[in-house]
Amino acid sequence: MQTSDGNSTAIEKYFSENKRRESSSRLNFFSMTLIDGKLVADKLKNEIAESVKTRLANGKKQPHLAAVLVGNDGGSLTYVGHKVKACEQVGFKSTLLHFEDGATEEFILNEVQKLNANDDVDGFIVQLPLPKHIDADKVLLAIDPAKDVDGFHPVNVGKLTLGLETYISATPLGITKLLEHYNIETSGKEVVVIGRSNIVGRPASILLSNQAKTGNATVTLCHSRTKDLKEKTLRADIIIAALGKPEFLTADMVKEGAVVIDVGTTRVPDATKKSGFTLKGDVKFNEVSQKCYAITPVPGGVGPMTVVSLLLNTLKAVEQSGR
Ligand code: GUN
Repeated sequence: MQTSDGNSTAIEKYFSENKRRESSSRLNFFSMTLIDGKLVADKLKNEIAESVKTRLANGKKQPHLAAVLVGNDGGSLTYVGHKVKACEQVGFKSTLLHFEDGATEEFILNEVQKLNANDDVDGFIVQLPLPKHIDADKVLLAIDPAKDVDGFHPVNVGKLTLGLETYISATPLGITKLLEHYNIETSGKEVVVIGRSNIVGRPASILLSNQAKTGNATVTLCHSRTKDLKEKTLRADIIIAALGKPEFLTADMVKEGAVVIDVGTTRVPDATKKSGFTLKGDVKFNEVSQKCYAITPVPGGVGPMTVVSLLLNTLKAVEQSGR
């Protein structure tokens, strides 16, 4: 099994290192479930592809996702590449608008206005981070909320906060889809989110505390100023590590039987790899996994779900447009 970046998945490595392959993703030693994001994402992609076929058979429009990428940040190039490839896989049209690092804020704002006005584009994203000379908040505010399939516009964040129907940003949405697939109850549970980013930590904390199917949790949002973090994580039934610090969450911070969701994807230099780096999560997987009820690997956990969630939002956009 290969990931789209050509590496063996963490799941594959896990099996080969332990030399104990079993027929399902539920592993009985340590009674730990390895949450297989690729498997769930593939299942959802198949469902999306079926919806596209039905749309087209009914004479409806092919969904179209556009992405704006400014500059040549390695991570952003890879992520946008995954998004474009995923569009192809499910039968969406995709457009990548790739501009050089020196593109001005005015130019990017004008591109956003053109995408807002383009009836063929159902939804679009502006890949973050943007170069420092461009005010990302200003750019996100310029996106038509109806086409904001990342769910980053303040109108959509506001709707999420109020529990109204909206585009939920892709990573938090992907996390809830994983929890649903593995029948992991959130209602009444203690959830600790580490990291308060606008993209992951904060919306995930709102989503899981909302009165909703995968919600109703008691959520603690922790960050760099949190005191006694370990005391809080040790109480958690579910931990979402989204702070971007490789192997930050260690076994002594996790209670026996917890569910651990690792959102980290830091590129750590590794001369033994052809790419020159290894992707590291925020969780010390080898030791934490031994205490968990369920855990996501990196790669192959949350990552594929983020991409498929963007596709789900784009499908929602075209359906809501009535086209
Ligand atoms: N940068 C890191 N994650 C994301 C994402 O989900 N969307 C966008 N637009 N930029 C990102």
